[in-house]
Amino acid sequence: MPGKLQTYERVAKEIAAVIDGETSAIARYATAGCLLSEAFAHYYWTGFYLVDPRKPDELVVGPYQGTLGCLRIPFGKGVCGTVAETGKTLIVKDVHVFPGHIACDALTNSEIVVPVFDTAGNLAAVLDVDSTQMNAFDEDDKIGLEVICKTLLAGL
Ligand code: SME
Repeated sequence: MPGKLQTYERVAKEIAAVIDGETSAIARYATAGCLLSEAFAHYYWTGFYLVDPRKPDELVVGPYQGTLGCLRIPFGKGVCGTVAETGKTLIVKDVHVFPGHIACDALTNSEIVVPVFDTAGNLAAVLDVDSTQMNAFDEDDKIGLEVICKTLLAGL
């Protein structure tokens, strides 16, 4: 059975192949979210919150796989809003002790959130992956997801 990093490598290649030449950011987000959630059993909710061009200090839900997600998250609120503010990946081992965590689904116990930047270096979105397991995400998830997020908007 391949290790997690090997699976991330395979998924990164699949995403790159499917989005090759695609000019829609939404289509790219949807593709990445689908292929990632299909690949990993420890994922429960997988999706993107996008910086709203009309309200640049607010995230609005984008393509996702999973149960109903909340629609808007202000910068600085919850895990996604914190990552939007800092521009740095966060792994939360237990969401119940994260101050201000936004509980969209009570089954979520841990999560990882990774920033997505556009080619100009501005924050475009955050990738939010939630798990029903406690402590589901580690350094390998961080490395794998950061590689994917780094090139997701390349060329747009
Ligand atoms: N977990 C997020 C909220 C979004 S949902 O879980 C889909 C957070 O606290 O930022």
